[in-house]
Amino acid sequence: MSVRRLHHEQPASFAFTRENLAWAKQQIGKYPKGREASAVIPLLWRAQEQHENWLPEPAIRYIADMLGMPYIRVLEVATFYTMFQLAPVGKKAHVQVCGTTPCMLRGAEDIKAVCKRRIAEHAHELSADGEFSWEEVECLGACVNAPMVQVFSDTYEDLTAESFERLLDAFARGDKPQPGPQIDRQFAAPFGGDTTLTTLAGKAAAKAPAKPAAKPTAKAPAKAAPVAALAAPALSADDAARADAAGKKPRMMKAPRKAGADDLKMIKGVGPKLEGVLNGLGIFHFDQISAWKPEEVSWVDEYLKFKGRIVRDDWIAQASTLAGGGETEFSKRVAKGEVPSSKR
Ligand code: FES
Repeated sequence: MSVRRLHHEQPASFAFTRENLAWAKQQIGKYPKGREASAVIPLLWRAQEQHENWLPEPAIRYIADMLGMPYIRVLEVATFYTMFQLAPVGKKAHVQVCGTTPCMLRGAEDIKAVCKRRIAEHAHELSADGEFSWEEVECLGACVNAPMVQVFSDTYEDLTAESFERLLDAFARGDKPQPGPQIDRQFAAPFGGDTTLTTLAGKAAAKAPAKPAAKPTAKAPAKAAPVAALAAPALSADDAARADAAGKKPRMMKAPRKAGADDLKMIKGVGPKLEGVLNGLGIFHFDQISAWKPEEVSWVDEYLKFKGRIVRDDWIAQASTLAGGGETEFSKRVAKGEVPSSKR
């Protein structure tokens, strides 16, 4: 833990904007009389967001007065938690690199090396253009997706030096990259699909014969090896009834077309096991998926207990692009072999 001191240059005063003041009063009102101090962390956070993402000393006093707390108590909170920045930070991104053991073992040092090279040699130093800064922090609670960083309120996980550089490029362009895992992975789910509680997926995958890896080309939609007579996943009558109530069953095929099944792993969100499940259902081609209407999406989503995955990952748009012979950013990475979870 580094020494955390207030910045040597401070503004003369601080006050919440009208909207933030109304919000702060609402927060304080959540706590019983005499316990207003419980609102100290959300108020400090809101003050930080208002003041270019760092917390000046007048804001600490302002919040202490608002909550009837001694200044030192609020200062203790602000200097203890690394979520509070005590000096100016990069306008586009302040990168907090987790350096605790799981992240360290999985490549945090590589991430820090990129920070030193691209942002500034030392933590808490602004980059030459004032747009970036970085620091190392302790565990941010996303260890299963190590290594990871936090930028303001968002976390970016499953990083490599290369994917982290791409993130910095995106922030530099003024984009807001998609937070979360930076590989084909659902949140903190296992690489390559479920390994436990696989009532549906496990059964279907077990029934699917192994397919040799497809060799995708840059332009044409990749074809998976022909799949013969895959069995549909065994479902209870309840599962089927639930899906029927949720939407309409899309058109399924008995077998892929002669040229072979498309490589559905080119779709972000589909790993080898899920591809087996989809094939087992009679879904082999991008154009089958791209043709799904909302009620058909609902049916598949409910049938496979996806809880919104198809919409969240925008399968329809991805499948449309791939069905037309185009590529997505994700499919390019799969084609280059950069997505471990898309491999068998
Ligand atoms: S060790 Fe990095 S998030 Fe926990």
